[in-house]
Amino acid sequence: MKSPIPDYLHHVLEVARPNDGGAAAAYIETLAKADTSKMAVALAMVDGNVYSAGDDRVEFSIQSIAKAFVYAMAIEDSGLEAVLKKIGVEPSGDKFNQLSLERNTNRPMNPMINAGAITAHTLVVSPTATLHQRTERILQALSRLAGRQLRVDEEVYEAELRTADRNMAIGYMLKAAGVISCDPQEAVRGYIRQCSINVNVQDLAMMSSVLANGGMHPLTGEQMIPQTSVRQVLSVMTTCGMYDAAGDWVSNVGFPAKSGVAGAIIGALPGQVGIATFSPKIDERGNSVRGVAMCEQLSRDMGLHMM
Ligand code: DON
Repeated sequence: MKSPIPDYLHHVLEVARPNDGGAAAAYIETLAKADTSKMAVALAMVDGNVYSAGDDRVEFSIQSIAKAFVYAMAIEDSGLEAVLKKIGVEPSGDKFNQLSLERNTNRPMNPMINAGAITAHTLVVSPTATLHQRTERILQALSRLAGRQLRVDEEVYEAELRTADRNMAIGYMLKAAGVISCDPQEAVRGYIRQCSINVNVQDLAMMSSVLANGGMHPLTGEQMIPQTSVRQVLSVMTTCGMYDAAGDWVSNVGFPAKSGVAGAIIGALPGQVGIATFSPKIDERGNSVRGVAMCEQLSRDMGLHMM
């Protein structure tokens, strides 16, 4: 029997489409030129079934969504204790590109803001690893989660590097505060490369379904991320994944999520489903306007709110 889910997903797209607010991220030239009519949604169930609708093969850069998975890699490579010494788990209530260091410890407040994510990037492989070792480890790990070989979008990487003054400044502040020990420019270049990896909504839903499935890949049965790391990642996604919109998100949508400035959002409901939406226009908090609308509707219709 034909599944009714694809028709339902088309309906979700069409209901969200009239939301015309927001704008494509302007500070990265390539993203500013994005086709803002593109829209897609995908669900990857923990039983391995994947459903999608809309522009589900259109690729875009993963941007801040990589932060969730790179945090898991930092925990795997450096250990949770070492990671917690360097990065907190409290929502900052500030924009994603604020420095937001804790007053008493100097730690970035959480791994979902840029300061925390740049720090987490330096804890992948080891604090003394090279940029190439870290970015390769991240590219290959994300590719295994997606189930296909991903690649860095060099145009996005170069464009973001040209306007990376703020992230470079954050890198230098992290070094001055004793949070990172490597060359700040190298840390930020590596962080920007991880942001520039291209994906589509099917990739993202698959990757999220690994989080929803306790770290085990639904298609291969391989334990990709230890269960304790999954718990840690989903916890910070819940409290910090949507930045200063986290409170609205948890009350309206109610599943752990992470957004990126290219216009994607991922969600993971433990034991059930990995979710991904895409639409390039973002609001002032950095979250896709139509993506938020789609997630609100999915949560309502499918009963995905955790509470
Ligand atoms: O650090 C930056 O500016 C970006 N490359 C990533 C930011 C991002 O995706 C924030 N999320 N909404």
